[in-house]
Amino acid sequence: MSFLRYALPALAVAGSVFADDCSNKGTSTIKSSGDATGVAGCKTFKGSVAIATDVPELSLDGKLEEIDGDLLIEENDKMVRFSAGNLKTVTGKLSVSGVPELAALTMPALEEVDSLTLLNLANLRELGFTKGISKCDTLRIENTRLSSLNGINLEEAADINIANNGEIDNISFMNMTNITSKLTLSYNNAQVNVSFPKLEAANNISMRAIGSLDIPALSEINSGSFGIFESNLTSVSAPNLTKIDGALVVYNNPLLKNVSFDALETVGADLRIANNTKLNEMEGLPKLKNVQGALDISGNFSKVATPDLEYVKGVFNLQSESDIGDVCEKFYDPLKDKKKLPKGDYVCEGDLDKAQTAGNGVSGSKGGDDDEGAAVGLTIPSISLSLVGLFAVLLL
Ligand SMILES: *[C@@H]1O[C@H](CO)[C@@H](O)[C@H](O)[C@H]1NC(C)=O
Ligand SMILES: *[C@@H]1O[C@H](CO)[C@@H](O)[C@H](O)[C@H]1NC(C)=O
Ligand SMILES: *[C@@H]1O[C@H](CO)[C@@H](O)[C@H](O)[C@H]1NC(C)=O
Ligand SMILES: *[C@@H]1O[C@H](CO)[C@@H](O)[C@H](O)[C@H]1NC(C)=O
Ligand SMILES: *[C@@H]1O[C@H](CO)[C@@H](O)[C@H](O)[C@H]1NC(C)=O
Ligand SMILES: *[C@@H]1O[C@H](CO)[C@@H](O)[C@H](O)[C@H]1NC(C)=O
Ligand SMILES: *[C@@H]1O[C@H](CO)[C@@H](O)[C@H](O)[C@H]1NC(C)=O
Ligand SMILES: *[C@@H]1O[C@H](CO)[C@@H](O)[C@H](O)[C@H]1NC(C)=O
Ligand SMILES: *[C@@H]1O[C@H](CO)[C@@H](O)[C@H](O)[C@H]1NC(C)=O
Repeated sequence: MSFLRYALPALAVAGSVFADDCSNKGTSTIKSSGDATGVAGCKTFKGSVAIATDVPELSLDGKLEEIDGDLLIEENDKMVRFSAGNLKTVTGKLSVSGVPELAALTMPALEEVDSLTLLNLANLRELGFTKGISKCDTLRIENTRLSSLNGINLEEAADINIANNGEIDNISFMNMTNITSKLTLSYNNAQVNVSFPKLEAANNISMRAIGSLDIPALSEINSGSFGIFESNLTSVSAPNLTKIDGALVVYNNPLLKNVSFDALETVGADLRIANNTKLNEMEGLPKLKNVQGALDISGNFSKVATPDLEYVKGVFNLQSESDIGDVCEKFYDPLKDKKKLPKGDYVCEGDLDKAQTAGNGVSGSKGGDDDEGAAVGLTIPSISLSLVGLFAVLLL
């Protein structure tokens, strides 16, 4: 019986030191089919298992259902296939990392791991997780050839990081309700559709280069921020989100037309929306009351309204290249006069040549209603915020 077709003959000795008692305090390194047979013969193996870096193909098919420790397949540039036919549980890490030739990772019974790392796998196109992993606290999938995440169906997780998998075009976690630490998605397929239909609570959410986002149930972001960057999506909507403990940032999304956070009331740090060149209205914050950091919104929008806004603690910067009517005079200036917006660090202007983010001054007005006297084209590239406030006052 040969589990290891290409096992080095000298190493292919049947029986092994860790076969007898199915446990090992340290890490057992599998170098031969004999080692593999030994481990595969245990229902539960207590201790961590590593696969030697020169083994080209390995099977732990057998009685093995649980590894009470880690399973590490790392830095192996020969391995093309790995299987563990009955393995259900890895109580520690399952790490498959730096295995560029690996084309088949067959673990049809796997359901539970503490953490799963799939890293630098240039040939792995699909996961052979037939039953599907339903429990995994820390998930990291980076630099693989995977085209889908079929085989990973989590309900809760602490930390999810899926990055640089250029062929993943769909990231959906249909049953995920809670992410307790971080959700980071970046630079997968540029049009990747992202869907978390049941996600209610999360901490830091950061997404780069996504094509669409579906988070209908998300209601709170605890002790973290929410950011969407450099993405080709056309709309961002979080209809049930009421509070974000950290910052809300929507930045550099060239096709974005619609930002709507219909239930959002409080932002615990900065609220920044900038350089979304197609965004031509900013009416998607109808319930926003309280911003504990800066409110910094700039762009080319002709409609802007935050009718429930009561207080901004940090800088207030609202700049648009389009005419925004009299919303500054009618709504924001009075709020500033009541000291609900920061007096010194306040800019509210439309009809600008170029809308700037907070801290970058105010460019000249095109000569709209607001600032008839302003020099056309005048740009003050970098000016302290209190000076910006002063500048605005001097113009009036
Ligand atoms: C979601 O959970 C339901 C019920 O627990 C289950 O039947 C279904 O297979 C799960 N879906 C996924 C994608 O895991
Ligand atoms: C995302 O979904 C849209 C609409 O269903 C579809 O047209 C598009 O092809 C999907 N993106 C990818 C990368 O599959
Ligand atoms: C999410 O998980 C945290 C920590 O386990 C818990 O405190 C919180 O109540 C959960 N939230 C939801 C909506 O399940
Ligand atoms: C957005 O789409 C354009 C054109 O399809 C593409 O060139 C660009 O790489 C995409 N950007 C991102 C961040 O995916
Ligand atoms: C939105 O939140 C409300 C109240 O918390 C809840 O009843 C409703 O089911 C949520 N909507 C979705 C789509 O989850
Ligand atoms: C969220 O991210 C910020 C910045 O990366 C970090 O300082 C903070 O600790 C994170 N919060 C959580 C809950 O992970
Ligand atoms: C604004 O966004 C465009 C396209 O997304 C990008 O090329 C440019 O560098 C961004 N500008 C800044 C100041 O970040
Ligand atoms: C923006 O998106 C929200 C939520 O999807 C929708 O209700 C609203 O009509 C959209 N606004 C525009 C101008 O498309
Ligand atoms: C700003 O928006 C207006 C109206 O939507 C449009 O005509 C104009 O070209 C835009 N300006 C820039 C610099 O994109």
